[in-house]
Amino acid sequence: MMKPDDFEFVSRLIKSKSGLVLSQDKTYLLESRLMPIARKRGLKDLTELIGTLRGGDRNLVEEVVDAMTTNESFFFRDTKPFDQFRHVVLPHMIKTRASKKHLRIWCAAASSGQEPYSLAMILDEFKSQLAGWRIDIVGTDISREILTKARAGLYSQFEVQRGLPIGLLVKYFQKKEDQWQISADIRSKVQYKEFNLLEDFRPLGQFDVVYCRNVLIYFDQPTKSDVLSRVSALMPDDGFLFLGGAETVLGISDKFKPLARQRGIYQLNRPGAPEVDLTALEKAQAGAASAAGAAPGGLAFQKPKHMQTGAATTTGTTARPAAGTTGTAGTATTRPAGSGFGTTSTQRPLGTTPSTTRPGTTGTGSTGSGTTGSAFSRPSGSTGTGSTTRPGTTDTTGSTYRRPLGTGTGAGAGGTTQRPGTGSSNTSGSSGTTRPSTTFDRSRFGKPDDKK
Ligand SMILES: C[S@@+](CC[C@H](N)C(=O)[O-])C[C@H]1O[C@@H](n2cnc3c(N)ncnc32)[C@H](O)[C@@H]1O
Repeated sequence: MMKPDDFEFVSRLIKSKSGLVLSQDKTYLLESRLMPIARKRGLKDLTELIGTLRGGDRNLVEEVVDAMTTNESFFFRDTKPFDQFRHVVLPHMIKTRASKKHLRIWCAAASSGQEPYSLAMILDEFKSQLAGWRIDIVGTDISREILTKARAGLYSQFEVQRGLPIGLLVKYFQKKEDQWQISADIRSKVQYKEFNLLEDFRPLGQFDVVYCRNVLIYFDQPTKSDVLSRVSALMPDDGFLFLGGAETVLGISDKFKPLARQRGIYQLNRPGAPEVDLTALEKAQAGAASAAGAAPGGLAFQKPKHMQTGAATTTGTTARPAAGTTGTAGTATTRPAGSGFGTTSTQRPLGTTPSTTRPGTTGTGSTGSGTTGSAFSRPSGSTGTGSTTRPGTTDTTGSTYRRPLGTGTGAGAGGTTQRPGTGSSNTSGSSGTTRPSTTFDRSRFGKPDDKK
């Protein structure tokens, strides 16, 4: 058990190096994440590890900060920020930068790369309009370890089932043993760089679009304000900022203002900030919502139509069909070899609102029964929404995911994640869709070190 003054020392150190705030009730988390480091270094216990930290071992400090980051991410996370990019930001930029033909995008907490790669895939759809353009997508993160994964662009079956439409999996990924690798072409469109948000941003240059999603939630208010202020200084008057679902500028920074009738997307609070045309976005949002049988502005993961009415599911939904239900005919898709995906998972056509269909959990054919076959699992009897974050209290196994430091077990980063509760009902997140009753496999959560 960590001594209170040791906790105080380490949490101060972590905050000063990264901005991450660790409250006293996260002692267990600190312990569970630091023990593997102590073991790896042959140190007897945490007291010895903290003694070494107090001695000023810089590599160890870096390792400890890295271990305390929460790297939860997934493709097209929360859907809307990517619809907004596709239907508002990109058309605006294509028009206004027609002569310059240069666009710069910053993913300021890129984690394992799903966010910048989601943007790169959208941009690829626009490649004929963007012929001759230079587009920089810069993905930065404080964690060296997670950037190694981002650069490799290698994802597990579970990770590609989180938010990635199957059509995009087929188009851009290749199976590599038991993982999926995003194409070299898409990978080459993103530059990764280790970068701490507490550092001076100016060397990074100017950015037209900034995704700073699901990282400010780990910071205290002055740090949030400071980061937002410095982000704004890098942006032109007509730039756009994206924040996570649980993040806002309201009450934190007056440098940005929310885009009318939209959430998560902000413009500069400057006279030069342009009026943008929301027609295409609102049409797409209304279409997606009605396809999912919900009101416009509805939730990201809607109950599939076939579950509501018995009718066939059509395109553009964000449905995650429940296991064990009858498969329905969606848009035709090709099943990638070895994917374990159903042949008829619903799939939006490219160029429309990205779906968050989760292939693989169901669908053995247009008329067959759904089969689980999914890497995602949830305890029998639990219901839930959004995606999963590994449990903080049982961070002993797993690969990438972390329960956000600053949150309890109920809400994940961005307010859309939820750890699979053991038999409990998960109701936060982006929708009320009931998940398949399956077994929670803890090995899918956490960082590799957590296994030891
Ligand atoms: C929850 S992930 C968010 C990933 C992605 N933006 C998304 O929304 O899916 C948060 C990321 O912020 C990074 N991070 C935390 N503190 C940071 C800091 N001070 N500077 C840069 N990155 C930081 C973590 O390493 C982690 O990868």
